[in-house]
Amino acid sequence: MKKPVAILISGRGSNMRALIEAAQAPDYPARIACVIANRADAAGLDEARALGVPTHAIASKGLNREAFETQLSAALQASGAEIICLAGFMRLFTPDFTRAWYGRMLNIHPSLLPAFKGLDVHRRVVESGVRFTGCTVHFVSPEMDEGPIILQAAIPVPQHASPEQVADAVLAEEHKLYPQALRLLAEGRLVIDGPRVTIS
Ligand code: GRF
Repeated sequence: MKKPVAILISGRGSNMRALIEAAQAPDYPARIACVIANRADAAGLDEARALGVPTHAIASKGLNREAFETQLSAALQASGAEIICLAGFMRLFTPDFTRAWYGRMLNIHPSLLPAFKGLDVHRRVVESGVRFTGCTVHFVSPEMDEGPIILQAAIPVPQHASPEQVADAVLAEEHKLYPQALRLLAEGRLVIDGPRVTIS
């Protein structure tokens, strides 16, 4: 049985597309049950619809976290989702929501965590002079961009590269890494052991 997955987005949704496309393969262990955006104008919503995935928009503006999460939980329940993939979802959750989904909610971040948490990552990477960067898929815990690391991909930072060039190169890796990590979770091959993940 394929595991039903909800993808949460706020913007263009290129990682969302990579997950939807991966899940179209007959032997992929997850199916995308719905895409939920916290803004009605998220560009990824149109794309998800065009790819045949049910979508919901739950405008978070003006709602406190609890009120937003009440609506979100209803949409998740209606979709039957058992796994959440955050894909450029720009809103923090309450610790209660995070705890309820712990071990079943993934995020992708465009750096080699725990380095460069937060926003504006690629500019800070370039300015710092690090020689390698990359992306990380991790379980979501209450602290932003923390939580047990599942997979990472590393790439060199070329000298004189612009933040935009680094972003493009990292994004190409994200699109490969996220479907791999979701596959492992959906196959039941990830064991969380304190701060670490073991892959069986
Ligand atoms: C990606 O770089 C992801 O790592 C970060 O937000 C960006 C979302 O891009 N969390 P997209 O909407 O998936 O194209």
